[in-house]
Amino acid sequence: MKDKKNLNYGGTGWHIYINLSLGLALLVIAIYGGLTFHPIIYLLLLPVPYFVLKAIRWRTGGVLEERLRIREELIKLVQPKEGDRVLDVGTGGGLLAIGFAKAAKDVKAIGIDLWVPGGGGTSFKTAKRNSEIEGVADRVEFKKADARDIPYPDNCFDIVVSSFVLHMIYKNRDKAFKEMIRVLKPKGKFAIIEPPGGYKWRINEDLKIKLENFGLKNVKFIPMMISYPKKRNVYIIYGEKRG
Ligand SMILES: C[S@@+](CC[C@H](N)C(=O)[O-])C[C@H]1O[C@@H](n2cnc3c(N)ncnc32)[C@H](O)[C@@H]1O
Repeated sequence: MKDKKNLNYGGTGWHIYINLSLGLALLVIAIYGGLTFHPIIYLLLLPVPYFVLKAIRWRTGGVLEERLRIREELIKLVQPKEGDRVLDVGTGGGLLAIGFAKAAKDVKAIGIDLWVPGGGGTSFKTAKRNSEIEGVADRVEFKKADARDIPYPDNCFDIVVSSFVLHMIYKNRDKAFKEMIRVLKPKGKFAIIEPPGGYKWRINEDLKIKLENFGLKNVKFIPMMISYPKKRNVYIIYGEKRG
């Protein structure tokens, strides 16, 4: 792949800002407090390098390599076939849309996103550029659209994928699930990657029952170890549309 170092699949947005802000806040408090109140407050300088290094880690190629590995794991599980139509919901920099377009002959992929501020630091432009770098710009399309109101007809995609998006949708999340299943063809494959928990988000039996009620069958939660920003388990939530 040419210009691989110029790929931007995000994941750098708020993680960098939060860690740098914490580092900077501690630096200011330590220096001000140390000078004004008591030298012991200089001890607050100790964790500063930790936060700065953490922010830098989000920028390193290691994260990109790991993201590409995760994409390959998902592709291996879903096994797109020649000519499949794929929808990537909350595509960000186009990671999955581009990966699936590359994975089999004549696959056409669409990536939709709202590119919300702080959503990972990507944009329509970065997604487009990534598709050029990865050599599939002619088979991948990007569109600004909400996961809760997908602008495509019923039953029109063979595969619907997504990574690290559903747990971020706090309002009307069920609508996003319903929309993703609505646009999937009968027997089509649904595969998303999500963390086990979060704000109003849990991967558990209730979620499985919900997805089955919304039209999926064979729903499975498959654990996958990832290494950013630290070693942790995330899950591939996999199912097929009843048909
Ligand atoms: C953590 S990023 C993940 C991006 C990409 N899937 C990846 O793994 O690289 C989450 C993405 O979800 C998008 N997003 C959040 N809410 C959305 C919504 N309601 N509809 C569509 N996209 C949304 C954000 O703009 C952001 O690009």
